[in-house]
Amino acid sequence: MKKSNILEWLKETKEQKLNELWSEANHVRKKNVGQDVHLRGLLEISNYCSRNCWYCGLRAERKDLTRYRMREDEILQCVEKLSKFKYGTIVIQSGEDQLITSRSIIRVISWIRANTDLAITLSLGEQSRETLKTWKQAGADRYLLRIETTNQKLLEKIHPGFPYGTRMDCIHRIKDIGYEVGSGIMIGIPGQTYEMLEKDIIWFQDMDLDMIGVGPYIPHPDTPLYNGEIIENNVIGSELMTNKVIALARILCPQANIPSTTALATINTQSGRETALSRGANVVMPNVTPVKYRQYYDIYPSKACIHETAEICHTCIKNRIIKTGRTIGTGKGSRNRKL
Ligand code: 5AD
Ligand code: SF4
Ligand code: FES
Repeated sequence: MKKSNILEWLKETKEQKLNELWSEANHVRKKNVGQDVHLRGLLEISNYCSRNCWYCGLRAERKDLTRYRMREDEILQCVEKLSKFKYGTIVIQSGEDQLITSRSIIRVISWIRANTDLAITLSLGEQSRETLKTWKQAGADRYLLRIETTNQKLLEKIHPGFPYGTRMDCIHRIKDIGYEVGSGIMIGIPGQTYEMLEKDIIWFQDMDLDMIGVGPYIPHPDTPLYNGEIIENNVIGSELMTNKVIALARILCPQANIPSTTALATINTQSGRETALSRGANVVMPNVTPVKYRQYYDIYPSKACIHETAEICHTCIKNRIIKTGRTIGTGKGSRNRKL
């Protein structure tokens, strides 16, 4: 795979030709990360957010959304459940909630470290060096912060008031501090071209990302980007386009952990997860958020699994993975650096 081919693949429409891409991605996945599908339990601890991203249903200006913030004891109950399911990792995610204190996160991390073997992934937005360091010292292992798009102009348009440089610096900071780094993009943002997508994929490789999360952009009616202008040469936020990015990311970053995302399961409820797993992905993130809160973590509409319990998702995902002939990963499923 040459970098010069990325754009061609992104624009490829012939099914027969694309089968070559899928098969190469699947081969590289098998050779580098094996047959295991690692499960990361996703816990959405708060839907408060102080930001106003143009695409996201949790944005601060959205006044009609019921907000919740889980108590520490509720969080710990979910951790216990997820341990029982034998997931190797907990992903603690929230909007940029100014009232979750760093100390409270430290208490949760310390408790998990002391009482379980779980790897701890945080996805709590842009944070200062000091905060990130403290959480790392308390025992967090990984951090997720999507860049969303590496195009400065587009990023600053959809993140009003928050500069591109600050977000990019934060991702570098996460890496410097020694976290396993996860980032990624949305596919099909109004104003996003194929050339931008090509640069994003090269950036994944240049950053040597440990985890790469990509999903289709799903327009949310209560956000300003809902009627965003689609330009000539705009990338389509389809399942196919997302799968192309997953496959290319796998080929260029062979050892990365790549999830088959909930957004993919949302636009194709029947087989979105399975298809991505056969085209380069090796991770699934079952939702473990208590069902009473799920509907309020409304980042995009019709999100998969909002009425299901953690138990239902657990059984559902396990069965789906086993049916594809893959195995369920054991242990933490950290990024494996081979020479
Ligand atoms: N469509 C798809 N993904 C979205 N996200 C936020 N809003 C949307 C949307 N409308 C994704 C962003 C963010 C992650 C938590 O959810 O990529 O980083
Ligand atoms: Fe807040 Fe994240 Fe949504 Fe932006 S994408 S509004 S930071 S939850
Ligand atoms: Fe939630 Fe299938 S994963 S219902």
